[in-house]
Amino acid sequence: MNIIIVDNYEEMSKKAASIIMSCVVLKPNSVLGLATGSTPLGMYKELVKAYKRGDVDFSNVLSFNLDEYYGINKDNSQSYNYYMNENFFKHINIKKENTFIPSSKIEDLDQACKYYDQIINKHGGIDIQVLGIGQNGHIGFNEPDSKFVGETHLVNLKEDTINANARFFSSVDEVPKKAISMGIKSIMKAKKIVLLASGESKAHAIYSAVKGDITPEVPASILQLHPDVTVILDREAAMMLSK
Ligand code: F6R
Repeated sequence: MNIIIVDNYEEMSKKAASIIMSCVVLKPNSVLGLATGSTPLGMYKELVKAYKRGDVDFSNVLSFNLDEYYGINKDNSQSYNYYMNENFFKHINIKKENTFIPSSKIEDLDQACKYYDQIINKHGGIDIQVLGIGQNGHIGFNEPDSKFVGETHLVNLKEDTINANARFFSSVDEVPKKAISMGIKSIMKAKKIVLLASGESKAHAIYSAVKGDITPEVPASILQLHPDVTVILDREAAMMLSK
């Protein structure tokens, strides 16, 4: 693992954006794996700025998001569809039909999960996967469990994840209890992975993911087995690594 420690969130965001940009510049039809949540917001802002400066062109890029809440309408302002559109897609020249997010629909769940993995494979797999990390070590919505789940699947969100995500909702009761997530196999098949973390609340998860045992109880620990992972941390998120 290549671990980069920077001073703050802004530096982390700039570094992540520059890695994504270089991937797209070198391969204009790159397949990006994207995350939502607070962590990548600064990276998306930097990428939008770079696009507006004319430094990067997304017209041939494809994107696959890691996850989506289950049973939520795409237009709901809490959906990850809405998040991606508001924070990234509508500001750049990516083609809408080239952006993929797991289906939030209740019907045909098995079919929709299979289709998601098939379509990633059909496009040659993910060139670069951006990941955040949950305080419990989750990546995507692959929650701590007794085994790793490979494929795109329905997840029952853990109470700590529901509580952590409640900050985006008016009350904890409104947070969906289930989500569709890309599985560990699809994440691990990405050619390159960039894991981002900022703040003290992520320090323990980062320590366990980077230095702990490889276990499904800390889903991010599987990344130790990937040949090309860059971890970008601010000082707080990295604070336990020197111990
Ligand atoms: C989001 C995702 C999650 C988040 C994680 C951290 O698409 O896959 O794994 O990356 O929950 O969320 P934040 O960045 O809000 O702390």
